[in-house]
Amino acid sequence: MKNFDRLQEGAFTEETMLAGDARVTTAHSSSPMSVEFPQSLPILPLRGLVVYPHTAVPLNVGQPRSIRLLESTNQQNGLIGLCASHDQDRAVPGPDEIYRIGTIGSVHRQLRRKDGTIRMLVNGLQRFRIKEFVATDPFLVAEIEPLPEDETPSTQSMAMTRNLVDMFMRLAEYVPSIPGDLLASSLNLENPLQLVYTIATYLQLELSEAQQFLEFNALTEKLAWLVRHIGQETEIMEMGQRIRSEAVGQMEQAQREYFLREQLKAIQRELGEADERELEAKTFREKIEAANMPAEARQEAERELNRLTRLPVAAAEYGVVRTYLEWLVNLPWEAATTDNLDLHHARAVLDEDHHGLDEVKERIVEFLAVRRLRQGRMVDGGWEATAVSTPSDRHGAILCFAGPPGVGKTSLGRSIARAMGRQFARISLGGMRDEAEIRGHRRTYIGALPGRIMQTLRRCGSKNPVVILDEIDKLGADFRGDPAAALLEVLDPEQNNTFRDHYLDVPFDLSSVMFITTANTLDAVPVPLQDRMEVIRLAGYTESEKIAIAEQYLAPRQIRENGLLPEEVVLDTAVLRQIIRDYTREAGVRELERQIGRVCRKVATAVATLPDGSQITSHAIQPEHLTDFLGPVRYFADAAQRTSLAGVATGLAWTSTGGHILFIEAAKMPGQKGLTITGQVGEVMQESAQAALTYVRSKAEQLGIAANFFDQHDIHIHIPAGAIPKDGPSAGITIATALASLLTKRPVCHDTGMTGEITLRGQVMPIGGVKEKVLAAHRAGLHTVILPYQNEPELADIPDEIKEEMSFVLARTMDEVLTAALCTD
Ligand SMILES: Nc1ncnc2c1ncn2[C@@H]1O[C@H](COP(=O)(O)OP(=O)(O)O)[C@@H](O)[C@H]1O
Ligand SMILES: [Mg+2]
Repeated sequence: MKNFDRLQEGAFTEETMLAGDARVTTAHSSSPMSVEFPQSLPILPLRGLVVYPHTAVPLNVGQPRSIRLLESTNQQNGLIGLCASHDQDRAVPGPDEIYRIGTIGSVHRQLRRKDGTIRMLVNGLQRFRIKEFVATDPFLVAEIEPLPEDETPSTQSMAMTRNLVDMFMRLAEYVPSIPGDLLASSLNLENPLQLVYTIATYLQLELSEAQQFLEFNALTEKLAWLVRHIGQETEIMEMGQRIRSEAVGQMEQAQREYFLREQLKAIQRELGEADERELEAKTFREKIEAANMPAEARQEAERELNRLTRLPVAAAEYGVVRTYLEWLVNLPWEAATTDNLDLHHARAVLDEDHHGLDEVKERIVEFLAVRRLRQGRMVDGGWEATAVSTPSDRHGAILCFAGPPGVGKTSLGRSIARAMGRQFARISLGGMRDEAEIRGHRRTYIGALPGRIMQTLRRCGSKNPVVILDEIDKLGADFRGDPAAALLEVLDPEQNNTFRDHYLDVPFDLSSVMFITTANTLDAVPVPLQDRMEVIRLAGYTESEKIAIAEQYLAPRQIRENGLLPEEVVLDTAVLRQIIRDYTREAGVRELERQIGRVCRKVATAVATLPDGSQITSHAIQPEHLTDFLGPVRYFADAAQRTSLAGVATGLAWTSTGGHILFIEAAKMPGQKGLTITGQVGEVMQESAQAALTYVRSKAEQLGIAANFFDQHDIHIHIPAGAIPKDGPSAGITIATALASLLTKRPVCHDTGMTGEITLRGQVMPIGGVKEKVLAAHRAGLHTVILPYQNEPELADIPDEIKEEMSFVLARTMDEVLTAALCTD
């Protein structure tokens, strides 16, 4: 699009300059036809401008050459030749840079300015052609030939002129620099030539276009060209207008949408989303108030709440902050249950839930008593808190139940909670390897949560529950940190009042939580942890205890759980004993309960298949029918059979699952002093076997073994039964006995079991797990147990009923062991 405002800015010419403030005015000169023009004229080159006949143009002249020209012209008739220079870059163009056709102009009104330039108004009179330049100095002078134009209107030109005016007026609407209204009245339809030139001056044509327009000879040619040009121009203007208005439309659309969306938001806010958030914040505020948090937690909660109200709901952070706040406000900061400190009540509850375990229950009650006194006591009818705990309180602050599976460790914990009227929760530590499980992940982790301790507390809803940390000996540790270290802090009364979960990152007081731990063995429990714990051992039950537990607890529970009525199943003592002997071999009662459950399910199936409305029938289970319910007998009292040959001795072992019996076999074959041991035997047991062999060799003569026997024989010791790894020194005397039996060809008494460490000199050293081992021997149907003499005090732990049924040999030396173990017949 052309710049129609160019006129206003003032167009510069080489030597002439379009006067900036003047408008082109239509010249109303008399007909130029009547004017006589001279043969030659001074030529004033114009830069970027063509002056048409019938128009008046203001020009500024600054070039010395041009000023000289004007000065000389004034002295003559005032006529000059106005020619455009086609080389607009040349400041002082020569004859070759000047268009040959131009307009003869008469100079009107000159004004000399202070800066030396001349301002003047020229009137275009008629076209002329330069025939040839006759002078270039002091200014250009050329011999000219006038090119008059036919000005008489024809019908065709009249029509074209009207059309042109219409079109021009239309264009004027788009172009502000064309004063359409003013022109409408002044355009002279009677003189088409004057009209086309006037219009042309307003069109701001390119120089070449303007020159071309000037050079058209026929009026119709000029008219046609203008019509075409104005048509194009108008079209462009209209298109521009259209584009502009469309753009405006689009902009308006976008704006409209923006406003609508804003309005929608406002409406949503109005309708409740904002209310909801407001409500949420309010609820949180109330909950924070109600939770009674300590200062640090409260501060954190308020800070996070502030953050929440400023976050957009759509932000990922929002959910994170919200979850965190939920955790904070839902923790039992102050909520607590009231303890029942009545020790008689406690004992009553323990008795209700568990058969036997007198000693254990007694110790629990004692523990509770001490705990109670430590908290404070009633003095003169008022409660007086005991002074803050001292470091020595750490010892034994935590109860630990240690013993094989199924002896009631976990259920005792539940019982204690019931006795004290506290909430109960259990955290299984088995296989836990990551510290974060105890302490949580930092909030920066995606999907982070508090650790198990805080989760448990939230679930309990009180800050003083009984929490069983089950199977503390199964705690693992790896690169993710040691959970035991975290537990140490949890269980330390000195530290746990400011326990800091990684996720919550504010201290929480765990000191009112009563932690109870359980373990199968304490070997794997880190010593610092053991140090905090008061260990209560549960070795396992005797047969009669199991029967009593089964009758009072397990059977009624299984009957109930399988949807039976108590009178529908009768499991008498004989049947229970049979189940215990033939289908279980355990220290606890877990397997026993499972087997009772199987019987009950079989009965339940039978009952359920009866037609509806049948009479209630009682199913009295007979011992001889047990195989129908439980399949073939699973365990045999095989000690007698296995030890019938010389070279096999019955040992007693103690593992995390309780006491066991194991058979140690020895065999000899021709060879040279070799000793082979098989059966998943650990290093300590291998050494113990070496020691046993050395002892036997040293006693060869006394035992009646040929002097050269060991030179000619290899010995193989095998410890069969399962892939249970066996280790420890307590099989020493058993191995020695098996070897002695083999070499003396005297079998071991079939109902005798033994345990004890052996030294090279044949001394018998004490071992652990006496009670568990004796119970296992009893289960296996043995009648004599050989024990190290130094273990004698532990016999006190053995239940009386077992002491009555079994005999014990307390041996100081291997000689005494062999005397008791080897048959004399
Ligand atoms: N002395 C007992 N009196 C009554 N039930 C018992 C007794 N000992 C164990 N039980 C029952 O045996 C089952 C196994 O006990 P549990 O506490 O799980 O053993 P643990 O935790 O030592 O492996 C439980 O149902 C428990 O009630
Ligand atoms: Mg348990």
